[in-house]
Amino acid sequence: MRITIAGAGYVGLITGVCLSHRGRDITLIDPDASKIALLREGHAPIFENGLPKLLEECGEKMSFTTDPQKAYARADVIVFAVPTPDRRDGSANLAYLFEACAQVASFCEKGCFVVVKSTVPVGTCDKVERYFDSNTRPGLFRVVSNPEFLAQGTAIEDTLRPARIVIGAGDDNAAQSVREIYDGFDSTFVITDRRTAEMIKYASNDFLALKISYINEIANLCEIVGADSETVSLGMGLDPRIGLRYLRPGTGYGGSCFPKDTKALHWLARYHDYELKTIKATIEVNETQKIRLFKKAKKYYKDLQGVIVAVLGLAFKPGTDDLREAPSVDVIQLLAEEGAVVRTWDPAAAARFAQQYPDLVLACPTVEETLGGADLCLIMTEWDEIISYDPNDFARLMHTPIVIDGRNCYTPGAFTGSGVLYDSVGRQVVNSEVMTRIEACS
Ligand code: UGA
Repeated sequence: MRITIAGAGYVGLITGVCLSHRGRDITLIDPDASKIALLREGHAPIFENGLPKLLEECGEKMSFTTDPQKAYARADVIVFAVPTPDRRDGSANLAYLFEACAQVASFCEKGCFVVVKSTVPVGTCDKVERYFDSNTRPGLFRVVSNPEFLAQGTAIEDTLRPARIVIGAGDDNAAQSVREIYDGFDSTFVITDRRTAEMIKYASNDFLALKISYINEIANLCEIVGADSETVSLGMGLDPRIGLRYLRPGTGYGGSCFPKDTKALHWLARYHDYELKTIKATIEVNETQKIRLFKKAKKYYKDLQGVIVAVLGLAFKPGTDDLREAPSVDVIQLLAEEGAVVRTWDPAAAARFAQQYPDLVLACPTVEETLGGADLCLIMTEWDEIISYDPNDFARLMHTPIVIDGRNCYTPGAFTGSGVLYDSVGRQVVNSEVMTRIEACS
């Protein structure tokens, strides 16, 4: 089975190398010639744990091209992994998807299965099939939805060992043919119709986003009423009906998926005259949470003019250099507007930040240099280097040791007696003689 993947972005590239690793015949096409040249030389154009090694292993087995004739003419399956960015109104922009359709229609005369992996509004696969039916011989292309659930930082593991594989097709033959791509994958298959498959993707991402906004609100309330949000998350999450994951309060969700997919589903519902109230609230809560660290900074410094702020972590989460919708960007812009002097450190995203926002901050090569003489420290990303940083060094290096930890990297007690004023998310030193502990039954 010859598989061509359109789009060498996150989803396309990771899917390609993982399928090639599992012995599939993969061609990856992207219009970006510099990206394709890098890949041909064996270099990864994106930052992802384990990707360089897998790419090296794929070697000659996987081919890369910018030429649609080469990519599409002989393909048995074409996978669309092109971007679907959001428009101003929150709706998904499908221009790249339909550009790919036009190329496939021109260059794949024999027809094939078209698999849509990009996150697309419900009903898009039907539209794509109608496009092929009206621009080529009807029935020549059969379109199947196969949404992607990989997360940045764990993308390879998520793809090689997925929790589930969702296939949405118009008929059993199409579903079965696409299922064969995943022969040998140890996973649960959900085979369904196309619209349901498309909805599973949005419903999954939006539910995770909702879980995060929910726990962020609970954490904010914990701060007011004097409860410990981390123990609340644990106490809730041990109930298997709730689950422990995506209950970490923080600075709000970012990245290229949750912000876009919550807005897109909200838009889609509105388009059909239905209001998704939970998702609307999820979005609103996140907008406020993203700037919460700035608001906290104002609590300590009414006037931020000339205040030296050390920002540790820029990426929207650890394990990536991605700054899309990263809370750090909003917070730093607000700090700069108020005249603060912002210094930053990030082990992966520093160069990208400097390129996208030149002159906004002073990027420091080490945590020490970032903290040296600072009046305030904001922790925006829970990088391992920050978690393992000695709490005593904040007091030693900073001019005024106030640390606002947006990711709960330290226990509140870690700073006891250090002279550091430590403020975190939904936690405070609780006035109780009972130490929180988990006792497993023997
Ligand atoms: C997300 C989903 O997790 C993937 O399943 C999905 O395939 C992907 O979107 C996509 O649609 O392509 P990703 O955006 O890479 O993956 O990142 P996540 O690890 O899910 O984190 C998203 C945001 O939520 C981050 O800003 C993270 O810091 C935040 N988060 C996550 C929390 O604030 N608390 C948590 O408990 C978990």
